[in-house]
Amino acid sequence: SGVIGLFHSGVGFIAWVIFRKRKWKEEEEDEEEQKAEEKDNQKVKDQPKTEQNGQIEEKISDQGKVQNKKPSQPAIFIPVDRSPEIQEARLKLPILAEEQVVMEAVRENPCVVICGETGSGKTTQVPQFLYEGGYASGNGIIGITEPRRVAAVSMSHRVAKEMSLSTRVVSYQIRYEGNVTDETKIKFMTDGVLLKEIQKDFLLQRYSVIIIDEAHERSVYTDILIGLLSRIVPLRNKKGMPMKLLVMSATLRVEDFTENQKLFRTPPPVIRVDARQFPVTIHFNKRTPLEDYTGEAFHKTCKIHRMLPPGGILVFLTGQVEVHSLCRRLRKAFPFRKGNTTTGEDEEADTSEAMRKFKKAKQKKTSLPRIDLDNYSALPVDEGDEDREAGIGDEEDGGSDLDIGDDPADTEEKADPSIPLYVLPLYSLLAPEQQAKVFRPPPPGTRLCVVSTNVAETSLTIPGIKYVVDCGRVKKRFYDRVTGVSSFKVTWTSQASANQRAGRAGRTEPGHCYRLYSSAVFGDFSLFSEAEITRRPVEDLVLQMKDLNIDKVVNFPFPTPPSAEALVAAEQLLVSLGALEEPPRTGRVKEIQRARLSCPITPLGRAMASFPVAPRYAKMLALGKQQDCLPYVIAVVAAMTVRELFEDLDRPGRSEDESSKLTQRRARLTQMRRLWAGQGASLLLGDLMVMLGAVGACEFAGCTPKFCEANGLRYKAMVEIRKLRGQLTNAVNAVCPEVGLFVDPEMTPPTEQQVFCLRQIVVAGLGDHLARRVQAEDVLDPKWKNGYKTPLMDDPVFIHPTSALFKTMPEFVVYQEIMETTKMYMRGVSAVEAEWVPQLLPQYCHFSPPLESPPPRFCSSTGTIRCHRSSTFFRVGWQLPAVEME
Ligand code: CDP
Ligand code: MG
Repeated sequence: SGVIGLFHSGVGFIAWVIFRKRKWKEEEEDEEEQKAEEKDNQKVKDQPKTEQNGQIEEKISDQGKVQNKKPSQPAIFIPVDRSPEIQEARLKLPILAEEQVVMEAVRENPCVVICGETGSGKTTQVPQFLYEGGYASGNGIIGITEPRRVAAVSMSHRVAKEMSLSTRVVSYQIRYEGNVTDETKIKFMTDGVLLKEIQKDFLLQRYSVIIIDEAHERSVYTDILIGLLSRIVPLRNKKGMPMKLLVMSATLRVEDFTENQKLFRTPPPVIRVDARQFPVTIHFNKRTPLEDYTGEAFHKTCKIHRMLPPGGILVFLTGQVEVHSLCRRLRKAFPFRKGNTTTGEDEEADTSEAMRKFKKAKQKKTSLPRIDLDNYSALPVDEGDEDREAGIGDEEDGGSDLDIGDDPADTEEKADPSIPLYVLPLYSLLAPEQQAKVFRPPPPGTRLCVVSTNVAETSLTIPGIKYVVDCGRVKKRFYDRVTGVSSFKVTWTSQASANQRAGRAGRTEPGHCYRLYSSAVFGDFSLFSEAEITRRPVEDLVLQMKDLNIDKVVNFPFPTPPSAEALVAAEQLLVSLGALEEPPRTGRVKEIQRARLSCPITPLGRAMASFPVAPRYAKMLALGKQQDCLPYVIAVVAAMTVRELFEDLDRPGRSEDESSKLTQRRARLTQMRRLWAGQGASLLLGDLMVMLGAVGACEFAGCTPKFCEANGLRYKAMVEIRKLRGQLTNAVNAVCPEVGLFVDPEMTPPTEQQVFCLRQIVVAGLGDHLARRVQAEDVLDPKWKNGYKTPLMDDPVFIHPTSALFKTMPEFVVYQEIMETTKMYMRGVSAVEAEWVPQLLPQYCHFSPPLESPPPRFCSSTGTIRCHRSSTFFRVGWQLPAVEME
């Protein structure tokens, strides 16, 4: 009956959902209007193919006549007060020469594409042009989206400074924070933030212009935004509330946007900005180091510093751990003892800053920072994903195993320490104060050396760089199409990216780019990077789109559509979570197939879409109210959403001594985690109980870096969880105001009953991640020893030795995700009672004898059940215990 109660209150919960969505249908009505518009724009039509500015100007003077016929807005000029230095620096930017062209094109066209090399001034100047042109002087404001948080924050500060305006006027909004006010006229935000806003107000009535920046990065949200805006802009114009769309891109491949008939019926004009780029000499390595490219980067940087004339060095590596490791090594080789650049200081500064803020929050007696409701997150996936690490331990002594004390390089290259090297790290998760350092001139008499992930490739332009050292690689998260198994892999970058990186050396004078690979290898690079949307599961996006009443996601004008496979998988998952209506099972095959790809959203789906987490977790939140479990569900979901709660225990030691120390620490921390999981009932919640325990214990201790260090927790992750808990609480309150939840940082541990309920909630969300231990008699192949079978995979998966359930090995488990390292390991494992499978997950079961369809939620018969799909192990039946009915 507990189970039944669970579902009942679930239904009651979602009944609170308010419908506030606009019909996507309007778009079709709009078709007529579009055609009329097309006629009007006939003269502009050939423009996208025009590449020379001269021709553009010609076209534009041509359009002048159009303008006379149909006067649009009068030319307005809003004066901006700029300091002489800023004014001087601006005039050097290539985009300034195109101001007229840009403004004319924007006036005459609903959508415009601007394409120009990184550093040409697009991000900082175009919003200013529009501001001066009066686009923010009426009711609407200017919005700019960035795929990375770093860029949104730093660009808003920069533009505010250039325009001598306060950050109340030129503001930013990112996942957790922002400084937007009523006075805001220019708003920088991450693309995910704008996507959420579209869900609240499909017409984006607050904005008069939207600029989609860094479109070449092809981030999923950017792609979707362009698709959505290609419909929103005509709709706004139709309703007499004109709106402009600018798409800005660094590379020349804009055909996906301009020559995509599905996207823009009238191809938008492309303005190409001449890059005033100085020549960059490319030096290829003779050989390509396969493993130790960080070491190679170290040697190259040392050489440049010792032998070559002044000029900043920018080193591209793939991730945070590598960046810190190289920074440490360079600082050791060329010590710089002034101010705050000694080893490890960055992290400390970072930490103490967070600590200060936390203390301040505490003094105010607000137990947790209450985050205002407009300050929502993007979607579940973290922005700047490739800058993240699968297993980070860099706050510790760590670094990569390349950082070997007795490396011959250390002695060989120690060299001439007379000119200090001013070494700075740069990656997207770095605290903003630390990031800002790279824009300031280095201390006099030093040489600047920035060690960066690909954040510096196009998003940020660092002044004074003359030498680029490029490892040629990039870290990306890869997903298995079928199973969703993910892993971080370092792969070769594309030719376009490598050229972008090289270009960073020629911003202020002729420069040099040292590629740590051979020209033959370069020749094998793909020309461009793939759009992210083609590489990842899309259930979160599909849910968000359904929430916008885009039922036929297949027909959505994606600049690059995701694979049909991925869309089908997403739709299936969402149906099984109850977020979408079930498609009919009978009828003509074609119709069934079509219906399967256009299931409308359910009230539960709407509630789920309003939570800023992936659909599986959103389902848990939607069920979480029961037995007062919500605070626990929120804590667990927050912990699962933040990558790497725990210090990396799999890191290899650098020496025997260190290895043994690591082994000891590993054993101690594993033991500690088992303690958090507790005994008996709570242990069965498994790794999720450990997460809950970690959050609870950490909050109880005041969430200090010291506590985290002592308990093998990542401090930054804990701070992020704290923020996310506040945010999720607000999201739940918004959907279900009567709960009136507030986050109590000092959670009391859940009761046994609550744990029981929590376990079921977890199963309801992670149902498709079910795994069953192979039975002893079924193990013929030794590789299956201690293995688990999942419905979709042929190979066994395993419980990680650090998991709370490693020793328990329950028959059924659900897992958060599978990460492939040395084996396929399940992460975030929780035990499932066998009888829950047919009760909570009938959609994943075959019943024998078959049940009438659709399968009832609860089954009172005793009989043999088989989980579906062709797995041998699932075919082994077991007795289904009688279930009490209400
Ligand atoms: O967007 P795009 O890459 O075309 O250029 P931008 O980001 O607007 O940068 C234009 C110029 O402003 C570059 O030369 C940057 O070095 C400079 N800038 C700066 O000095 N400080 C900042 N915080 C941002 C940009
Ligand atoms: Mg830019």
